[in-house]
Amino acid sequence: MDHFLYRDGVLHAEDVPLPEIAAAAGTPTYVYSAATLARHLGLFAEALAGLPHLVCYSVKANSNLAVLAHMAALGAGMDVVSGGEWRRARAAGVPGERIVFSGVGKTREEMALALEGGVRQFNVESEPELRALSEVAAAMGRTAPVAVRVNPDVDARTHAKIATGKSENKFGIPIARAREVYAEAAALPGIAVVGIDVHIGSQLTELAPFEAAFAKVAELAHALRADGHDIARLDLGGGLGIPYASTNDAPPLPFDYGGVIRRTVGALGCEIQIEPGRVIAGNAGILLARVIYLKRGEGRDFLILDAAMNDLVRPTLYDAWHDIVPVRAPEPDAPVAPVDVVGPVCETGDTFARGRMLPPLAAGDLVAFRSAGAYGATMASEYNTRPLAAEVLVHDDHFDVVRARPSYEDILARDTIPAWIGRDPSPPARRR
Ligand code: LLP
Repeated sequence: MDHFLYRDGVLHAEDVPLPEIAAAAGTPTYVYSAATLARHLGLFAEALAGLPHLVCYSVKANSNLAVLAHMAALGAGMDVVSGGEWRRARAAGVPGERIVFSGVGKTREEMALALEGGVRQFNVESEPELRALSEVAAAMGRTAPVAVRVNPDVDARTHAKIATGKSENKFGIPIARAREVYAEAAALPGIAVVGIDVHIGSQLTELAPFEAAFAKVAELAHALRADGHDIARLDLGGGLGIPYASTNDAPPLPFDYGGVIRRTVGALGCEIQIEPGRVIAGNAGILLARVIYLKRGEGRDFLILDAAMNDLVRPTLYDAWHDIVPVRAPEPDAPVAPVDVVGPVCETGDTFARGRMLPPLAAGDLVAFRSAGAYGATMASEYNTRPLAAEVLVHDDHFDVVRARPSYEDILARDTIPAWIGRDPSPPARRR
C-alpha cells in the first residue's frame, strides 16, 4: 500500500494534491511520500521481530539526503557502495557503526574513508580486495570488520541486468571456495571476520531463490564455525521485488520473506542484516510530468512528455513497466486508446511505453509514473542538457523541495573552456 491516492478526482501524495507540487516545483519532479517510506521500513521490523537484526537501507535506490535522514531517524542503517554514498549516509546523520560498505570495486581511498569513520562492516567480494583492505587497515593501525560476499550460484529469475547470484556474474566469491578465502582472511593483519554476506539480485518476485541461497549460507556458516571462525552476523542482501503494474500479481510480502529467513538461518543465533532498497523506496515515489504535445502519427499517437529517459531510464534500460496515470482522474466512462508515451530526447529509446491504454490527455495535463521512488532519481542524467528533475518529500499535508532543479547557470558552470582554444594559431603539423 502506498499513499498516492485519488481524492475528489485528483491524485494526491498523502494530503497534498499533485498539481500543487507541480505549480511550486515545476515538472518533471520526483515526489516521495514520507509515510510510505516509513511504512515499508516498518514492515521489515515486523518481519524480523524477535531476531536480532539491522535493516541497512540500500542507498543506491534513492539517495536523497532527506530520504536517508528520514530512514535513519526511524532506526535504519545503510548499505553503501561508494565513497559518495558513504558521504551521503554520514551527511544524513548515520553513524559509521550502522553503515555497511558493499561493492565489487572499492578503492583504497574508499576503504580508508570508511575505516576512519568506524564502518560497521565491509562486504568483501574478492581476494585482491581482501588483501588491499588488509594493507590499508594495517597501515592505519585499524581492524576492518569483514564479511565475505559469497556467490551461491542461484538463479534469481529476474532481469539479466540485475541478477547477481549466478556463477557467471561478477559478484562475490564462489561459495565452494569460501572456506579457503575465510582461512586467508583470518590470517591477514587488520582483518576481523564478522560474518557472511550474500545478495543474489534485484526485483525478485519469488521466494524460492532466496530460500535456496540462504540455505546455502546456513550450511556455510556451520562449516566456517567448525573451522574456527566467528560467524556472528549474516548479511542477506536486498532484492525483494515490488509490484510495478497494478494488474500483476504482487510479489511476496516482507513478512513471508522474514519467514524464509527464520526457516533457513534463524537457528544460527546470528545477527541478521538485510539491504532492501527498491521495496522501501520504489512505491514511495512517483515521477510527476506534464504533457507537452499529443502528436498524431501514422497509425499511432505519441504523448510527448516533459520527462524523458534521462529522468527515468528504467523503461529503456530494462524494458521496465511503470504504470502511467493521469493526475486528474478521467470520467468513469472515458474511453481509453493506445498511445506511445515518449520524452523529448533525440533517440527512439526515449520511449516510456508503447501502445499504452490511456484516457484522453492533452497538452498541459499532468501525469504520474508510479513506482518511481527507487532507481529513478539516482539513475538520472543530464543527457541533452536537461536539468535533473527536482525532488519533493511530502509529509502529511506539507511538502518540501528536497533537491531543487539545477539552474542552467549551475549546469554550464561545471564545464571550463581552456584558454588556448581559439587563440593558438599554430597549424596541427607544426606541433610535432
Ligand atoms: N545490496 C546489494 C549488494 C545490491 O547490489 C543491491 C542492488 C541491493 C542491496 C538492493 O537491492 P534492492 O533491494 O533494491 O533490489 N537499477 C536497477 C536495480 C539495480 C540493483 C543493484 N543492486 C533497477 O532499476 O531495476
